[in-house]
Amino acid sequence: MSLLVVVAIFSLLHVAVNAAVNWTAMPFNPPSVPLAVRSPYLNTWLAQGTGAQLNDGWPTFWTGAIVGWAGYVKVDGTTYTFLGVPGNSGTQKAVQKNLTWTSTESTFLMTAGGIDLTANFLSPVNPTHLVNQSLPFSYLAVSVASNDGNSHSVQVYSDISAEWITSNDSLVANWNTTTGDVLIHEVQLANESVFAELSDRAQYGSAYYSTLNANGVTYQTGEDTTVRGQFIANGTLLNTQDTEFRAVSDRWPVFGFAHDLGTVKDATGPILFSVGHVRDPAVEYIVAGNALQNRSLYFWSQYPTVDAAITDFMADYDNALSVAKAFDSQVQSDASKVSSSYADIVALSIRQALATVELTISKDGDGSWNTSDVMMFLKEISSDGDVNTVDVISPAWPLFLYTNPALGKYLLLPLFEYQASGQYPNQWSVHDLGAHYPQATGHNDGKDEAMPVEECGNMLIMTLSYTQATGDQSLIKTYYNLLDQWTQFLIADSLIPADQLSTDNFAGSLANQTNLAVKGIIGIKAMSSIANMTGDASRASNYSSIASSYAQQFLQLATSSSGHHLTLAYGNDSSWGLAYNLYADKLLNTQVFSESLYQMQDSWYSNVANTYGVPLDTRHTYTESNWEIWTAATATTSHTRALLIDAVHAYASSGLSSVPFGDWYDTVSGKTQAFQARPEVGGHLALLVVNASVSASASSSSSSVASQATGASGSPAASSTGASRSGSARALSWDGRLVLAHAVLLMLVTVGLGWVIAV
Ligand SMILES: *[C@@H]1O[C@H](CO)[C@@H](O)[C@H](O)[C@H]1NC(C)=O
Ligand SMILES: *[C@@H]1O[C@H](CO)[C@@H](O)[C@H](O)[C@H]1NC(C)=O
Ligand SMILES: *[C@@H]1O[C@H](CO)[C@@H](O)[C@H](O)[C@H]1NC(C)=O
Ligand SMILES: *[C@@H]1O[C@H](CO)[C@@H](O)[C@H](O)[C@H]1NC(C)=O
Ligand SMILES: *[C@@H]1O[C@H](CO)[C@@H](O)[C@H](O)[C@H]1NC(C)=O
Ligand SMILES: *[C@@H]1O[C@H](CO)[C@@H](O)[C@H](O)[C@H]1NC(C)=O
Ligand SMILES: *[C@@H]1O[C@H](CO)[C@@H](O)[C@H](O)[C@H]1NC(C)=O
Ligand SMILES: *[C@@H]1O[C@H](CO)[C@@H](O)[C@H](O)[C@H]1NC(C)=O
Ligand SMILES: *[C@@H]1O[C@H](CO)[C@@H](O)[C@H](O)[C@H]1NC(C)=O
Ligand SMILES: *[C@@H]1O[C@H](CO)[C@@H](O)[C@H](O)[C@H]1NC(C)=O
Ligand SMILES: *[C@@H]1O[C@H](CO)[C@@H](O)[C@H](O)[C@H]1NC(C)=O
Ligand SMILES: *[C@@H]1O[C@H](CO)[C@@H](O)[C@H](O)[C@H]1NC(C)=O
Repeated sequence: MSLLVVVAIFSLLHVAVNAAVNWTAMPFNPPSVPLAVRSPYLNTWLAQGTGAQLNDGWPTFWTGAIVGWAGYVKVDGTTYTFLGVPGNSGTQKAVQKNLTWTSTESTFLMTAGGIDLTANFLSPVNPTHLVNQSLPFSYLAVSVASNDGNSHSVQVYSDISAEWITSNDSLVANWNTTTGDVLIHEVQLANESVFAELSDRAQYGSAYYSTLNANGVTYQTGEDTTVRGQFIANGTLLNTQDTEFRAVSDRWPVFGFAHDLGTVKDATGPILFSVGHVRDPAVEYIVAGNALQNRSLYFWSQYPTVDAAITDFMADYDNALSVAKAFDSQVQSDASKVSSSYADIVALSIRQALATVELTISKDGDGSWNTSDVMMFLKEISSDGDVNTVDVISPAWPLFLYTNPALGKYLLLPLFEYQASGQYPNQWSVHDLGAHYPQATGHNDGKDEAMPVEECGNMLIMTLSYTQATGDQSLIKTYYNLLDQWTQFLIADSLIPADQLSTDNFAGSLANQTNLAVKGIIGIKAMSSIANMTGDASRASNYSSIASSYAQQFLQLATSSSGHHLTLAYGNDSSWGLAYNLYADKLLNTQVFSESLYQMQDSWYSNVANTYGVPLDTRHTYTESNWEIWTAATATTSHTRALLIDAVHAYASSGLSSVPFGDWYDTVSGKTQAFQARPEVGGHLALLVVNASVSASASSSSSSVASQATGASGSPAASSTGASRSGSARALSWDGRLVLAHAVLLMLVTVGLGWVIAV
């Protein structure tokens, strides 16, 4: 068959898979494209589903609520929309040619008449630089170039609406514009409610839209049709401010900038905008004596005003871009050692997960910032809005471990401090620090959602993991008694777990859950290692023997009579589930469970996989992407590992979802369940922080040759685990089968084509 035919067939296949996407999407068209994703309240996306150009709809908050963000480019007098749907008459639509995304950037290439416009949305990731990481701002950089060899007169316009500050468009906003070296529009609610949320939007704080004040730059605030109409008519704005403060939807006030680029032929440098949302104080936190402490974002330790922070942020773009590119390529290189599918999943997960946390500091008695008092707070986005949920930090843990393990400590500290204050009445670990972000007000009544084995195990496992990764013993020394208290609970309740919830609370409670027992037993062993590190030899050996004895008994109780798999719950022979909690045994190198258990599970999963992965357990066909990937990190063969990773990739790239990476989905239909934009996707980095060597053969024989460990070069944070961190070789057998699958598909299509032609 001729090369031409092959090429034609491949194009057909491409169109068939991505029916509505007629631009080049690299690496694929995601469920939702991250635009400005840096905090629980700066969380702006472009919903895709089967595909949407940058100017096919409005950007939305993670909930789907519209946040007005518009962009025009005027070329030789003709105005084209490139961002949002501002919809004024007399404008045309730029045509999207290209969408490319990495861990930090989403880049759109659009054609508008005689020019090509590149819109680059950069949400910086700066995990080891706490000032920069805590700045809740993102960049939009726009550049243009002639696409027909001719020179063109070009003006670029962009605005935001007041929808960035509330979910209730009937509320009154006020605003102003500062005109220094940087032009800054600020908009806030007239009547703010500190620490309050409405439909997941903060009901206090300001949105900022900024650009560099250079020649040819103008600004204007006012009604959408007026400001946009001015640009369309003239290509410049009037440098005027509308001071009739009113409701968000009352003659929709917008905050615009225009840049006159004059005559353009070669590619221009970037025209820079930044968008942000800042609250102060950011979080209220319960301290001793039931008192509430105000906590502010870390960047205040460096900047006296938000304007000063924005000015530096704008000036830092070139550096920020090169830091971002270095980060992106480090992640790409580390994750590609597992597989290219895996690298795609990781790249789509990082911004989403990091935007669920905020780095804070407190003030000393004299009013100065105390940068020794760093705590990080996490919003359990989408599922319920809890603060620092232990069983949400736990699935996301690999992200923090990979980017900067200290971030993990800053997340655990508020949980430890609260429980060390003696205000929490239960003997097991608290579930979360408060029911509504950003109010970390504790649960002094002890009536938080009880997940005793789950949370005790998580705290012990994460604490040991942090200590192993950094060598910093401050947590295990300061909170030794609490850690030991939780261990007593695990010793009492983890071999025969009582009827209780696990982190997968949507699946309901159940007695004797094997996966909970796994977590509890590893938790006991983790405390043994902690005791060992602090020189408490008798406790170390006592807990170590308890863990070994439990592990033995567990295998008797939990293995199905067929000997083919663990059950979901003791005694229910036909049940099974993803034993994802085994991941902790690999992560910590605790070796609680024998290699034969891993091999048994590895062989089992491929028997029960659906199109989009292995179901969470036998009660339902749904699963969680983060547990698929954790399980992939426990696989003993490249076959099973690739099966699990590629299933998540197939789901994410299917075009079936239009929400920010939903971790909970159906393995048969590929449909996303209720969750979206959650921190759990941080768990997709699981294989980057564990020594996950697999055998290249699909057989589960322990004697098969382990793949060459390629040795991931280490995280951007260059943490000093000393432990060897090897990603392992590409899944050769899977690649082989993919090639085969393509060949078969090709043959089928060719035959079909031949038949059509013959008919
Ligand atoms: C893609 O299709 C849409 C609608 O069918 C159209 O407006 C747009 O111009 C097309 N883009 C390309 C790059 O062909
Ligand atoms: C699309 O983007 C990719 C990656 O940035 C680039 O290699 C390619 O040249 C772009 N295509 C076009 C048509 O600009
Ligand atoms: C939105 O604000 C308006 C005006 O203050 C108020 O009447 C209405 O109840 C608010 N809606 C919600 C859902 O809070
Ligand atoms: C406007 O400017 C004043 C003075 O610079 C400032 O205090 C205020 O917070 C600004 N923002 C708004 C939205 O009024
Ligand atoms: C301000 O908001 C609070 C709480 O949302 C509300 O009780 C109060 O009536 C509002 N005040 C005005 C003047 O709108
Ligand atoms: C139109 O723009 C020019 C500069 O390009 C300016 O001199 C003129 O005042 C503007 N006219 C209006 C009506 O805005
Ligand atoms: C915390 O901040 C709020 C809002 O600024 C303020 O009303 C409250 O008094 C502060 N609380 C403390 C303890 O400083
Ligand atoms: C952090 O930001 C500052 C100014 O905004 C910049 O000078 C510095 O280079 C940044 N650091 C990193 C690591 O990006
Ligand atoms: C700063 O915070 C640290 C850690 O919480 C605390 O030990 C120290 O006392 C604080 N410093 C002051 C001056 O309050
Ligand atoms: C849990 O498993 C143990 C050991 O097999 C058994 O004795 C107990 O009855 C089970 N509990 C429930 C509620 O099924
Ligand atoms: C810690 O474990 C190591 C290795 O098993 C052992 O040699 C050492 O004696 C233990 N130390 C304590 C204090 O338990
Ligand atoms: C081992 O730990 C358990 C649980 O704390 C305790 O009941 C038991 O007495 C300990 N055994 C020894 C020998 O210390």
